[in-house]
Amino acid sequence: MNLKRKLKLGIIGLSAAFLVACGSTPADSGSGSGSEEKLIVGTDAAYAPFESLDGEKIVGFDVELLNAVMKEAGLEYELKNIGWEPLFIALQNNEVDAGISAITINDERKKSYDFSSPYFESVNMILAKEGTSIKSAKDLEGKKVSVQNGTTGQEALEKMFGANENIKKYENNVLAIQALLNGEVEAVVADNAVVQEYAKNNPDKKLVTITDKENFESEFYGIIFPKDGEHQEEINKAVKKVIEDGKYAEIYKKWFGEEPNVDALKQ
Ligand code: ARG
Repeated sequence: MNLKRKLKLGIIGLSAAFLVACGSTPADSGSGSGSEEKLIVGTDAAYAPFESLDGEKIVGFDVELLNAVMKEAGLEYELKNIGWEPLFIALQNNEVDAGISAITINDERKKSYDFSSPYFESVNMILAKEGTSIKSAKDLEGKKVSVQNGTTGQEALEKMFGANENIKKYENNVLAIQALLNGEVEAVVADNAVVQEYAKNNPDKKLVTITDKENFESEFYGIIFPKDGEHQEEINKAVKKVIEDGKYAEIYKKWFGEEPNVDALKQ
């Protein structure tokens, strides 16, 4: 657990002791023995097949990978669905110990957060309606396009066309796709596995996916940590182990139906 959270719990513990001394009982204090310390891992569970909700349950590739990694590291944890932007705020405030959410490792983010070594290769992709005239990212110029706010999809569009009104930003990717279905935008830009999965699972929506290897760069996902948090080293070791010992390939095959290119992750 990080220092700030330890301090917080310490304060709760102290006030609980004080209340008990005063003869009143604390409502729901966290004054346990502390023996089974649980890490809190945050996510935005609206990004299938990486993380999404099945009823109350968070499911997906990231969820199973995290499970394997934490088992390997021998760490107790709880995965919480807190949303995309709130996750980054929670990391900055040390309210979570880590995050897993198909998060691309990039230099900008590295200034404020730490990352594990890469666990998944990804690239942005366009989702549009059948019959669209869009053939490449360049064709998005002057068209309304939706993205999830604060993602590399937004960044890629802004890099090509500058920040402008046609880039419609949504709190999560489900809403970004909804905007396409409603006809509010002509395309969505998001991670390839996510848009492909959506198009495949919703044939009635008549959607197509468009790649553009020139304008969309290859990206790698990592588990994210608060800068100088306490657990990245052991978790990172476990990430590498799980990739090496074949557990990763097993989970990958289950979700993507093919062998992963593990070599691409070793850079
Ligand atoms: N890989 C992209 C990024 O890091 C999009 C990730 C969005 N993840 C999510 N769970 N909504 O910016």
